[in-house]
Order: sequence, then C-alpha cells, then structure tokens
Amino acid sequence: MSSHKPRLVSGDTPTGRLHLGHWVGSVENRVALQDDYDCYFLIANVHAFTTRMERPLEIRESVLDIATDYLAAGIDPKRSTIFIQSEVPAIAELTFFFSMLIPYPRLMRNPTIKDEIRDKGLGDNYPFGFLLYPVGQVADILSFRAEIVPVGEDQIPHLEMTREVARRFDQLYCGVDSHTEDRDYVKNGGLFPVVELKLGRTRRLVGTGGPTPEGNLLKMSKSLNNAIFLSDDADTIARKVKSMYTDPKRLKATDPGTTENNPLWLFHETFNPDKAWVEEAKARYREGKIGDMESKNRLIEVLVALIEPIYQRRQVFAADPGQVLAVLKEGTAKANDITQETLRLAKMAMKQDYF
Ligand code: TRP
Repeated sequence: MSSHKPRLVSGDTPTGRLHLGHWVGSVENRVALQDDYDCYFLIANVHAFTTRMERPLEIRESVLDIATDYLAAGIDPKRSTIFIQSEVPAIAELTFFFSMLIPYPRLMRNPTIKDEIRDKGLGDNYPFGFLLYPVGQVADILSFRAEIVPVGEDQIPHLEMTREVARRFDQLYCGVDSHTEDRDYVKNGGLFPVVELKLGRTRRLVGTGGPTPEGNLLKMSKSLNNAIFLSDDADTIARKVKSMYTDPKRLKATDPGTTENNPLWLFHETFNPDKAWVEEAKARYREGKIGDMESKNRLIEVLVALIEPIYQRRQVFAADPGQVLAVLKEGTAKANDITQETLRLAKMAMKQDYF
C-alpha cells in the first residue's frame, strides 16, 4: 500500500494556469515519481492572497484551472493526493509554531523573497503575510513529514528554510543531537525528516520574449506574457513559436546566427528529444544554413507532441468540473487525516497536549 512509501510534497500557487516552466521545473518530475512516493500536491491558494488579496474570484478560478491541469498532465488521483491549502487547517496552525523557529533577519535575507519583491514591483508596500508565506511553505511540507520535494530552482531558499526548521524542531522538542546527520533525524527520534529537494532537468526556463535592456532573458511567467501553457491548443502553440524572439541581427536564413541566449535554441535543447538533430541544426544556424522558419516549425512539432495529449485530456476534465471538485474534496480529506496526526505529534513533542 502507498502508506509504506516515503512521502513527497509539492505544489503551485494559483495565479494562472500551468505553463511549460512549471512542467520542466517540477510537474514532469511529479508525474514520474508517483509510483515511488506517496505524493501530495497542494494548490497554495492562501499564498495567492499574498499578492492578489483583492482578486478572490480570480484565485478561485485558478484553483480549479490548476487542478484540471494536474489531472490533464498525468497526475493520477488514484495514486496521488491533490488538495487545497486553505482547507487543511493544521498547516495554518503549524505555521504559527514554526514562525518561532525562524529568526526574523533570516527571513528578510531569503533571496526568493527579495527577488519577488523586486520582480513584482512590490516596493515596500507588501503585506505582512507576504513575509509569512515561506513559513507557510515550511508547514505545507513538514505537516506531511515529507522526505522529498520536487521544485524549481527559485524554491531552493524555501527548502533550505524547511530543512532548518525540521532540524531546529527535532533538536528542541524531540531531543535529537545537533551533530546528527540530516538523514538520521527521524531514526534518532525526530518528528520531521530533513527534506531533500529534487530539481527539474532545466534549471530555469526562459519565456518566448526577448531580453531586458541589460541583456537578460526573463523566465517564463504568465504575468510577463511570454508563456506557453499546458492548456494551449496546437494553433496557439504555433502562433507563439512563430512570434518567438530569436537572433534579431539575423535578417535572412543565409545570415550567420547566434544560438546562445536564443530562446528558439534553448527550447530545442530543453524539449526536442532528437539531440543529434538539435546539435547539427545549431551548427547550421551559426553558419547561416538553416532558416528560422524551419527551426521554428520543428519546435512547433516537438511542443505540440508534448502538449496535445495534455490538451486533449484537459478538454475532458474541463467539461466535468464536478469530477475535478470531487478529486479535490477527497484529496483534502486525506490531507487532513495526515496533517492532523502530525499536529497531534508536534503538540505532544512541544508539551502542549492537555486533554
Ligand atoms: N511557492 C511555490 C511556488 O510558488 C508553491 C508551493 C507552496 C510549494 N507550497 C509548497 C511548492 C510546498 C513545494 C512545496 O511555486
């Protein structure tokens, strides 16, 4: 039975549908790991409120969109549990206790927090809850006593914080010695394993657009309008690839082009299974012996082959939102069973079990 397998937790903040960046960063790994781990996938709707508290209906819609994307992408509710963060109260309760174990200056040094404040233009106008969300993420993970978390590179600081809180809790309340190896915390009496992270095969997927004035390609993101979604149909994919940024200095197919920092070739490197063709075509591109059109048409074929089956399955689930809700309801009930048990054990360890 699944309960003998180590637990895995991951999830997404519902701020839109899932795109190829989510796929290579984490979703692809999640689909592949379903047989080896007891998997819990959360839709982090509470986190969505940190930056869109004035748009509750949009968050609600996105929760259902992401659940539909999960099912379409191959997350199988018979093997894995999909649930809604706000409906699992033990997570919120543990967030409060865990917040005591994180020094405030440590939180303010979290590079992901700093990047988000910059990229989202939050200035010094972000709510207190924005700073709380990494602590909430620690609780998302530890409330399942998870051992592994597949995420993208941008989540590394949050995972490091999760590991620190697990060690700190186990040392303070479970008597685990501070010299213990990370992998031995539970064996030595700790409640929380020191989680491992599993990064996606592409560390950071760029979007379809061109570079910033400083010459940096931006990561794929719905808000930057440079994303290809798992819910895009073949025509939309073709249109997006055709208007994709390439080498602007190359005016005709016989001009030599540069493949570096060129989204067209970064996408081929990430998604095209025919590695030999990619290498050979890149060489031709550099010599001006292959056109943008031919290279883009190949990429369209590759991306349509990946996304079309997801798109087709998605149509079926999208036509039956009742079924998607039923999956979420059942998953949330299961998540509550496990996290309530963790909360009970955590309170015992903290000597706060009174009745
Ligand atoms: N912060 C993650 C993101 O924006 C989403 C998330 C919330 C998450 N809780 C999590 C990921 C727990 C992994 C584990 O992508």
